[in-house]
Amino acid sequence: MPVAPYKNPELSVDERVADLLSRLTLEEKAGQLTQYFYTGTGEPIPEGLDIESLPPEHRIHVELPARIEAAVKAGRAGSLLFIRTPELSNRLQKYAVEESRLGIPLLFGFDVVHGWRTAFPVPIALAATWSEHTVEAVQSAAAREARAAGVHWTFAPMIDIARDPRWGRMIEGAGEDPVLGAAMAAAQVRGFQGDFGDDKLLAGPKHFLGYGAARGGRDYDDAEISDSELWNVYLPPFRAAVEAGAANVMSAYMDLNGVPAAASRRLLTGILREQLGFDGFVVSDANAVRSLAVQHFAADQKDAAVRALGAGLDMEMCAFDPAFDTLPDAVANGSISEEALDDAVRRVLTVKFRLGLFENPYADEAASDAVLASPEHRTLARDAAEQAIVLLKNAGHALPLDANAIGRVAVVGPLADARRDLLGPWIFAHDTSETVTIVDALRAVLGEDAVSYEAGAGLPERLHPSPFDVLDPSIERTPDDYDDDAAIDRAVVLAAASDVAIVVVGQRQNQIGEKASASTLDLPGRQLEQLRRIHATGTKVVLVVVSGRPLDIRWADEHVPAIVQAWYPGSRAGEAVAAVLLGEVSPAGRLPFTWPRHVGQLPLIYAHNRTFEPDDQDRRYFDESNAPLYPFGHGLSYSTFEYSNLTVGSPAIAVGDSTTVAVDVTNTGSREADEVVQLYVHQRYGTASRPVRELKGFRRVCLTAGETQRVEFPLTPAELRYWNSETASYVQDVTTFDIGIGADSTATLDASLSVIR
Ligand code: BGC
Repeated sequence: MPVAPYKNPELSVDERVADLLSRLTLEEKAGQLTQYFYTGTGEPIPEGLDIESLPPEHRIHVELPARIEAAVKAGRAGSLLFIRTPELSNRLQKYAVEESRLGIPLLFGFDVVHGWRTAFPVPIALAATWSEHTVEAVQSAAAREARAAGVHWTFAPMIDIARDPRWGRMIEGAGEDPVLGAAMAAAQVRGFQGDFGDDKLLAGPKHFLGYGAARGGRDYDDAEISDSELWNVYLPPFRAAVEAGAANVMSAYMDLNGVPAAASRRLLTGILREQLGFDGFVVSDANAVRSLAVQHFAADQKDAAVRALGAGLDMEMCAFDPAFDTLPDAVANGSISEEALDDAVRRVLTVKFRLGLFENPYADEAASDAVLASPEHRTLARDAAEQAIVLLKNAGHALPLDANAIGRVAVVGPLADARRDLLGPWIFAHDTSETVTIVDALRAVLGEDAVSYEAGAGLPERLHPSPFDVLDPSIERTPDDYDDDAAIDRAVVLAAASDVAIVVVGQRQNQIGEKASASTLDLPGRQLEQLRRIHATGTKVVLVVVSGRPLDIRWADEHVPAIVQAWYPGSRAGEAVAAVLLGEVSPAGRLPFTWPRHVGQLPLIYAHNRTFEPDDQDRRYFDESNAPLYPFGHGLSYSTFEYSNLTVGSPAIAVGDSTTVAVDVTNTGSREADEVVQLYVHQRYGTASRPVRELKGFRRVCLTAGETQRVEFPLTPAELRYWNSETASYVQDVTTFDIGIGADSTATLDASLSVIR
């Protein structure tokens, strides 16, 4: 029997897709557009098991996987998510490839956000490296591990701009800035997906569009975004991800300007496909199509399916009972055309062919362990964590600590020894025995006897339990002991008897991330009270903050000499923190967001427009400064740097032309160190008001003591234009730009560039 053309690898992807599409029933087409949560084991249901007799919470775990497996065999499922092992991935793939009518392989998706078995720093920390190179390498290692475990596709990177740190998901992104955000988006797509090789994952940048603007920072709340912000702030990371070739995009949950993103034709077709040129497939967020009816936008599930598909959404992610099951009927009764259905199926199949799944559907079970335990990945996890750490304050050279003359060290705070919390959220395939905690690492370097540890003030549990805790058996459930006076007393006594107290404060990993919006930026529980008491002992204090959002550390900034933002650093957390505290590396991480003084200032960004009272910019609250605690781009070093000889290629260029801005950066200190060189511009006048400054370029460089490097940045029309809401188009004004290069967003803008007709 001749081989069907779609099975012939000699034919082009388009030819194979066309052939396969012509063979599919309407039900099979809808099946390719359906992605199920899968939480089973893949083992057949034991014979004789009386499902009816099981309690409902157990029954669902037996019934649902069995239903999904039946759907796979019937060709009614195109993709599954949450499969963690190559064995399970292969077992399920076999149902699709060998038992379904046409043998179309499944795509296995998962949230591979910052690592698989090896946990890398959380994405906001990766952004704080300001190193596209490191970020690409990290996500490439994450892809290698997840692919070895049988995963094909990651629901990442999350590239939502986040300007309100009450929103927990800011930890998954790159912060407040569109230029940094775009660079990090592209680097992650290159890392995850690259050339579609067999150690890569499809990249699924998310969530399109505007999820980070959720009202009040409350997860899933609706967002109202002006056209100017939409194009100039929220869209650039997606443009960059699409240009980097992302094969998938995930739509957002919330309403944007009154329409759910999953059913917005303007977003999914008008902007994503027509304006950005995206040619991959769009997946919904979990249950977001069904939710169109739940949130009283669609009349029922059929209406939800028709409107989502009609808007340009290709695949429905859901736990059970997909709304897309109604699509065959909808085609039959004319509510949607078969062409629309075919377009979506074509996009999904194209990606399956491009990924090589028809030739190579199975994971290599024998090779998986070696990839997961890769020593190179563990080294990279440490390097990335070191590069991400931000030295926020270092009065009187309090840091680095001298390992040879350090005396007795007190380490205080449960996060200092937390094998799970130090990894951060969105890690599901880790092994907590591989986490190196801060206590572990300091003891390894300084000796067991030199380092004493007290948990001290505990971290209160969340008000509402996180559903993610259920998925993760390694979550540390400490008793609710944050109110324990004796524990705090012990920590204070230990600190008083020590030469230095390293106090680790912050939030648990389940107090940040999805479903973890916060109404306050205060340190949870009694951490501040304990810090004040430790400070009052007179022992030198070094504060280490473990968090994925800025916390209110005003008191510490006034009183504690050294403050280190460690983020959730991942598997090698402790070693990275110790390397910075002890000066083995000079910190060079920079804040990817403005660090507010107080929750009441939110949202607070550096790239705000100028008002008619420019000198009062910092005095617009009567009871609080408008200034941040630390500016965007801030981060200190153990070395010192000088910027000189700033030049702009030509003082005037015509609209549409480009020039180059350059500066000499000299390491004037006595040790090798990295520096993040940042270019800011301000457009003085034009056809719209523009921010007081905007990042337009950055480069992380490494300079030996005394070394000078000339760092150059192109300024092209792409950097100088912006979306003008009056004309609904990109414009480049005839104007003058103030230009500056420096170490953070307070750099002086003392050069200029005229743009002439
Ligand atoms: C999140 C997505 C995620 C999906 C699958 C949703 O709740 O919003 O970002 O990819 O779950 O885990």
